[in-house]
Amino acid sequence: MSDDKISSNPAIDAAMRLDGDPQNLRDYYDDWARNYNLDITSAEYSGPAISARLLRQYLDDSDASLLDAGCGTGLVGIELQALGYRRVDGFDLSESMIEQAGASGVYRKLAGSIDMMQAARSYAADSYDAVLSVGVFTLGHVPPEAMEVLLQLTRPGGLLLISTRTHYYQQTDFQPLVDKLLAEARIELVKLLRDAPYNKDGDAHYWLFRRTG
Ligand SMILES: C[S@@+](CC[C@H](N)C(=O)[O-])C[C@H]1O[C@@H](n2cnc3c(N)ncnc32)[C@H](O)[C@@H]1O
Repeated sequence: MSDDKISSNPAIDAAMRLDGDPQNLRDYYDDWARNYNLDITSAEYSGPAISARLLRQYLDDSDASLLDAGCGTGLVGIELQALGYRRVDGFDLSESMIEQAGASGVYRKLAGSIDMMQAARSYAADSYDAVLSVGVFTLGHVPPEAMEVLLQLTRPGGLLLISTRTHYYQQTDFQPLVDKLLAEARIELVKLLRDAPYNKDGDAHYWLFRRTG
């Protein structure tokens, strides 16, 4: 892979060069939806499996209500269902990604055209036992502040799991935001898998927080 490439897969590389504009992201993923699973599987994407296993270690309740934020085609939902979770909802910006997620048959409720930054308009506060967002806190997608929105949707005492690609973590203010939320006692860090496998082009950190405030 040449130095200026973020990923050896052209579709993944282009996704990470998006500008965070919701309309551009939606258009991009609408186009990519049909080939996403193939591309991402050939890139040896392990984010969904690692995230679901991490959650399972700390949430041993198959009836827990889960929200998969930026669920895409449903790869996280499939892993969650395989581990026994039965009440998994999902949302995404892209309707075409949501169509694919619907075909997986593993979600209780799905919603498209939802921008994570505005998700508190569509979901009640304090409602989920756990919220997950895998593969979305990545370059060109959502800013670190999206974590505060997801925290709102998590019930007090509930869990929030986020993957951050290593280059996203290095190039954004994700850590200062985590430090602020820790200092305000709004979260505690339950577990951090640092530099864990993500795909064949690089690693990610997997953060598991508990909402404490
Ligand atoms: C790399 S995919 C990850 C999908 C899925 N979580 C997975 O692990 O396969 C990123 C997903 O985030 C969605 N997305 C990007 N920005 C978003 C936003 N602002 N609000 C909601 N979804 C967003 C995209 O539409 C896409 O489905």
